[in-house]
Amino acid sequence: MEYSMTQEKREIFDKIRAVAAEKNAIILAHNYELPEVQDVADLTGDSLALSIQASETDADIIVFAGVHFMAEAASIVCPDKQVLFPVPDAGCAMADMLTPEQLIKKKQELPGVPVVTYVNSTAEVKALSDICCTSANAIQVVKWTGADEVLMTPDRNLAQWVSRHTDQKIHYWNGYCPVHDDLTVEAVRSAKAEHPDALLMAHPECHMKVLEMADVVRSTSGMLVYASKSDAYEFIVATENGLLHQLRKQNPEKKFYHASPDMICADMKKTTLKHMLAALENEKPMVKVPEEIRVKAFRAVQRMMDVPRDAG
Ligand code: 13P
Ligand code: SF4
Repeated sequence: MEYSMTQEKREIFDKIRAVAAEKNAIILAHNYELPEVQDVADLTGDSLALSIQASETDADIIVFAGVHFMAEAASIVCPDKQVLFPVPDAGCAMADMLTPEQLIKKKQELPGVPVVTYVNSTAEVKALSDICCTSANAIQVVKWTGADEVLMTPDRNLAQWVSRHTDQKIHYWNGYCPVHDDLTVEAVRSAKAEHPDALLMAHPECHMKVLEMADVVRSTSGMLVYASKSDAYEFIVATENGLLHQLRKQNPEKKFYHASPDMICADMKKTTLKHMLAALENEKPMVKVPEEIRVKAFRAVQRMMDVPRDAG
């Protein structure tokens, strides 16, 4: 275990499980959350898996340990459920890099070009988009549009990576994830020098120069699948360091190293066990996307879910 389970934490942990059972609540946690938050959850996963799980649950309440756009996504696909989001200001720097006004303007510059929006975006931006994608399905989604050219928002790195895998012309918004974009070639070189036998797994939010050094490029869940199936024993992981917990838990016999100790998303670390228990007990804070926006955003999310799934 990568954290100390104090008596106090154990009590809160057990109480969360008890209150969740009593209220028919399901706890979903993103792979970047604190280890103990991942462990208390019913399900952990990447953005695509969590959206699908939210849409399939028969729980009355969803507790979302992640960042704001993820709780919004749960509200978009589950309008009849209460979506509890324990820390309201846990946001995503990338999602904040594209406003609805900016997207409206960009669409005017590219009339008739389908808009493929990464789930790391606000509900309003999704509502203005034709289809959503995640890092696990971006290539399939772009190909599935069948369009000669598409506009990908808001992540320029994901867009550039997709453009390497399709002949379609990719226009993109100049947004990025600071946690991934800041990872340098030098940091990766030094991790490789330290662990010469390790495979490098990188997230497509990393800069193209880093992606070019990678043995595999995957979403967070894609990395989990790859690591467990691979014959390799050692891996350098170029994504937010919260994923190391899940990789080590699922593959205790293998070794995982971070590409850089700095790959930490402060917003993903805001949610604690205490916040989760308080949210469950008080049944707030909640996230509810206004119906007018939700219906439009749902169309884009639903189209994505209809595209054949892939492990990433
Ligand atoms: P995935 O878990 O979907 O790969 O996304 C990474 C991410 O940055 C979520 O904020
Ligand atoms: Fe957003 Fe990057 Fe944090 Fe993911 S890791 S939530 S993309 S800021």
